[in-house]
Amino acid sequence: MDLEIRPIGLTMATDLAAVYQENRDFLQPYEPVRADAFFTAGGQRDNIRTMVTAMRAGDRWPAMIYLGDRPCGFITLNTILRGALQSARVGYWVAEKDGGRGVATRALGIVLDVAFCELGLHRIEASVRVDNPRSKRVLEKNGFSTIGIARRHVFLDGAWRDEYLMERHAPPIRNYGQ
Ligand SMILES: CC(C)(COP(=O)(O)OP(=O)(O)OC[C@H]1O[C@@H](n2cnc3c(N)ncnc32)[C@H](O)[C@@H]1OP(=O)(O)O)[C@@H](O)C(=O)NCCC(=O)NCCS
Repeated sequence: MDLEIRPIGLTMATDLAAVYQENRDFLQPYEPVRADAFFTAGGQRDNIRTMVTAMRAGDRWPAMIYLGDRPCGFITLNTILRGALQSARVGYWVAEKDGGRGVATRALGIVLDVAFCELGLHRIEASVRVDNPRSKRVLEKNGFSTIGIARRHVFLDGAWRDEYLMERHAPPIRNYGQ
């Protein structure tokens, strides 16, 4: 599989808008409510500017997933916390037509390498709707374990949803402070 993870940049606005638009209905149960402008190149330029600012501040690490030169998804390290925590939260999606080929599993593996080896983080957290076993499997295949269920954790698709909270630690040799 010719998979690449490319940190986000303004030149990707048209690509990102197109893949969001194509997958609008597919992603709706997992995404916050989006204005129509979000699905346009202009809306994505604004979105990317915000992401790049956060990336430069060290708060986020957002990237597009490509199969060859074709964009097919998105993956982000959010809420990067330094100090005593050295943690982040990960979120991702893969275009409906590219599902079932291991794209999310590979992309998450690459981003965990970035998190632990390049950014020096210690712990990555994820939350996944209890009715999304496919994404839970992606996390488990990447070494995440379940902490528990957070009740009414996130407002998605018109209701407060229960989610599994999951975590993965850096291999011991990379642990902060050692
Ligand atoms: C969830 C998502 C990221 C999966 O992407 P993907 O590229 O298809 O995932 P992969 O192919 O790497 O792996 C999917 C795994 O789930 C398994 N799976 C698929 N449907 C399943 C189901 N109903 N129950 C359990 N496992 C399931 C697959 O068999 C595969 O595991 P395997 O390799 O052991 O066979 C993608 O469907 C998506 O973006 N969904 C909408 C947004 C979303 O859910 N984002 C994550 C929010 S936490």
